[in-house]
Amino acid sequence: MGSENIYILGIESSCDDTAASVIHNGKILSNVVANQKIHEEYGGVVPELASRAHQQNIVPVVHQALSKANITKDQLHAIAFTRGPGLMGSLLVGTSFAKSLALGLNIPLIDVNHMQAHILAHYIDEEGFKKPPFPFLAMTISGGHTQIVKVNNYFNMDVIGETIDDAVGEAYDKSGKILGLGYPAGPEIDKRAQLGNPKAFKFTKPKVDGLNFSFSGLKTAILYFIQKETKANPDFIAENLNDICASIQYTIIGILIDKLKKASKETGIKHIAIGGGVSANSGIRQALKDGEHKFGWTTYVPKFEFTTDNAAMIAIVGYLKYQDNAFSASNVTASARLKL
Ligand code: KG4
Ligand code: ZN
Repeated sequence: MGSENIYILGIESSCDDTAASVIHNGKILSNVVANQKIHEEYGGVVPELASRAHQQNIVPVVHQALSKANITKDQLHAIAFTRGPGLMGSLLVGTSFAKSLALGLNIPLIDVNHMQAHILAHYIDEEGFKKPPFPFLAMTISGGHTQIVKVNNYFNMDVIGETIDDAVGEAYDKSGKILGLGYPAGPEIDKRAQLGNPKAFKFTKPKVDGLNFSFSGLKTAILYFIQKETKANPDFIAENLNDICASIQYTIIGILIDKLKKASKETGIKHIAIGGGVSANSGIRQALKDGEHKFGWTTYVPKFEFTTDNAAMIAIVGYLKYQDNAFSASNVTASARLKL
């Protein structure tokens, strides 16, 4: 088996998206995601409903990934899957499916850490996207995660900062709930923020030591602010929505950039990559671009479909681990709190 012509199937099921992807060497041939709309009704992910939906989706999603890649399962060299971190019930569906498929096909199984995958998504071969050189700083920002990681090598990473309470996407979604917006609220707050005045209202940034983050205080500050203002004027939200969104976004981006600046200064690293669903945000993208001029950073933002939860990022880690002969034992288990 040469290492030049490798097909790997990646499977992701850590939260509320069931995803499968086929990678041929470093290039993605298919990247299929079944989003679970059911959670919108509840304003957040309901774990029990998520695992049930994974069970329904996983077979068709894998079929579609293989057929879009134009290969049969017999051509696969290995199965890579998300071992953790994530929701236990959701992880179990992907883990047992991957194990059975690898066993049935008699090919190696490769377990992947979801957080590592968000970072290594930058190593997918994709025209127009550059790969960060080691060492670099990676900031993963999504509905479930907020971390700054010093990436020394593919498999050697140090978490140097993380949230002590809510994730940044959660801060967007909870603020959106207070404002009466739909779930997830990040995209709408971002859209409205671009039409509003970021300095209209001032929210204090939390004081958190070192490179850690905190977002729960901001949510409470927004709640009290809105309660006070709507008491005086019941139409306050409707009359000021764009300005409120712009002010919230300005505060959140400020928090993220302050910590990135500190991390860059402390480590002396100026290559900065982002990943996770919130990296779609126009404010963070602009702030990173500004950082290139202001601080001499080189910044890396992956293609959108590789930033939200997806299986292409699992497949690329599978490919990198395959080359390293880093295979899993057949008794590997899902791990909800898996660390980097
Ligand atoms: O990575 P992702 O798809 O799923 C996980 O949470 O793992 O991220 C979803 C999160 C949600 O909280 C959503 O509100 C946020 O990303 N988000 C955004 C934007 N697009 C998605 N937040 C701010 N601005 C955006 N443009
Ligand atoms: Zn994620």
